[in-house]
Amino acid sequence: MKFKKNILCIGAGYVGGPSMAMIAYKCPDCRVTVVDINPARIDAWNSAELPVYEPGLDEIIKKTRSKNLFFAKDIENQIKENDIIFVSVNTPTKTFGAGAGKAADLQFVEKTARQILEHSQSPKIVIEKSTLPVKTALAMERILASAKGKITFEVLSNPEFMAEGTAMADLEKPDRVLIGSRETQSGLKARAELVDIYARWVPAEKIITSNIWSSELSKLVANAFLAQRVSSINSISALCEKTDADISEVARAVGMDSRVGSKFLKAGIGFGGSCFKKDILNLVYLCSYYGLQEVADYWESVVKINEYQQDRFTANILGSMFNTLAGKKICILGFSFKADTGDTRESPAIYITRKLLAEHAQVVISDPKALKNAAIDLASDKGKISYIEDPYSAASGCHALAILTDWELYRKLDFRKIYKSMVKPAFIFDGRNIIDHKKCFDIGFNVYPIGKPALSRFEDQSSV
Ligand code: NAD
Ligand code: UGA
Repeated sequence: MKFKKNILCIGAGYVGGPSMAMIAYKCPDCRVTVVDINPARIDAWNSAELPVYEPGLDEIIKKTRSKNLFFAKDIENQIKENDIIFVSVNTPTKTFGAGAGKAADLQFVEKTARQILEHSQSPKIVIEKSTLPVKTALAMERILASAKGKITFEVLSNPEFMAEGTAMADLEKPDRVLIGSRETQSGLKARAELVDIYARWVPAEKIITSNIWSSELSKLVANAFLAQRVSSINSISALCEKTDADISEVARAVGMDSRVGSKFLKAGIGFGGSCFKKDILNLVYLCSYYGLQEVADYWESVVKINEYQQDRFTANILGSMFNTLAGKKICILGFSFKADTGDTRESPAIYITRKLLAEHAQVVISDPKALKNAAIDLASDKGKISYIEDPYSAASGCHALAILTDWELYRKLDFRKIYKSMVKPAFIFDGRNIIDHKKCFDIGFNVYPIGKPALSRFEDQSSV
């Protein structure tokens, strides 16, 4: 079959896989190919066990794979054969040299640009889907402009706003699709071509266009604003714990103001995930680079509050359990950075587990989807760690439960049954405020939510 458009995506990760599956699903007359330098990842995309767990993804892959969606390893050949190329490679925080610990490591993006340059034999539209520092497109353009002969490249910015766990719903009904381009004749033509693809299923008023730098910067700013809300509510949760106010009640009252809005006001153990911290630090680096130190400091404080929240949570476990965790068994319920994903990148659970191990606690980790990743994350950590998927078996014989991920299944656990199997006095530290605290207290637990008064049988428990 002859396809109307041939689309390639370089990078078959959490973004590349799901976003291209959605394009293939919505545009049956387009041929969509996804490539990656990691051949095992491509094999997994071609197998029954996809490398990414995302509700609804399996069904869409089943409907499109080998029809108009392909996962391939021959990157060079695919670059030759496709006209529209999305770049969705990883952009981690730099760990070396100038900007180490803050700036984005752009080596994977740059390598991709050079590969495109080397193997292209016809004009291409190259689309930044990865999250990048503002002005990256300039570097891309400069590399691609060194093409010999008549091959021309147009670089667009089309940042991805999906969240893990809800990726398929976000991709199907996005709040907006943002497309940035140069405002030249060829830039506007390329922009229109990409608008046409999204217009197959996204209402016109939700497809917004801008200059290329606004588009690149908007993605960093969107993540910074979202993370800032989480840090804002978490900072207030600390004050609630000192004053007997209840963070859920405060969040509801504040969020009902339509100017504030109710989303992203759930207090917890801090944000995780591969992007919030990385993208804010990238913004901080950019501000410092342009001499805007006050602005950099302002945004850096969002990350500092996030670390503070995780420290507070572990200090509370230690203080409440009589200031010693040595030899005690703590069951961690949930290791992924949020519900409905197996992703553990930058999960607060990694940091909290390490803190507990440093206190010589024994840690039992339970999670419905993230145990494989948890074992990789903690492979070099010393201490007693076990991995048990079934929450009832995991909790049995433990002194405390720490709920670290908001998985729906934890709301519905039979806490009476769990209580019976635990060492007494038994503790629950609800890092996500998802269970019925009063009910658990009545069963016999000492219960410590976030930003609400503890329900404990011990007075002055943390004053030693
Ligand atoms: P990921 O690590 O899951 O996937 C990136 C993939 O790119 C990897 O499989 C890697 O092997 C591949 N790759 C790297 N260099 C390559 C090359 N030269 N040729 C071919 N493949 C190459 O990362 P991700 O979570 O999909 O994120 C990708 C980008 O999207 C990042 O910039 C991220 O900030 C952004 N983003 C992520 C999310 C998310 O929810 N994960 C959401 C929006 C935006
Ligand atoms: C986030 C953004 O929501 C996406 O728009 C963006 O595309 C993506 O980052 C990205 O660039 O990678 P994601 O990290 O997948 O998506 O998940 P979120 O739902 O944003 O949650 C991030 C973290 O904040 C999680 O650890 C979550 O538990 C925490 N969170 C979120 C809270 O603690 N409280 C809240 O009210 C909301």
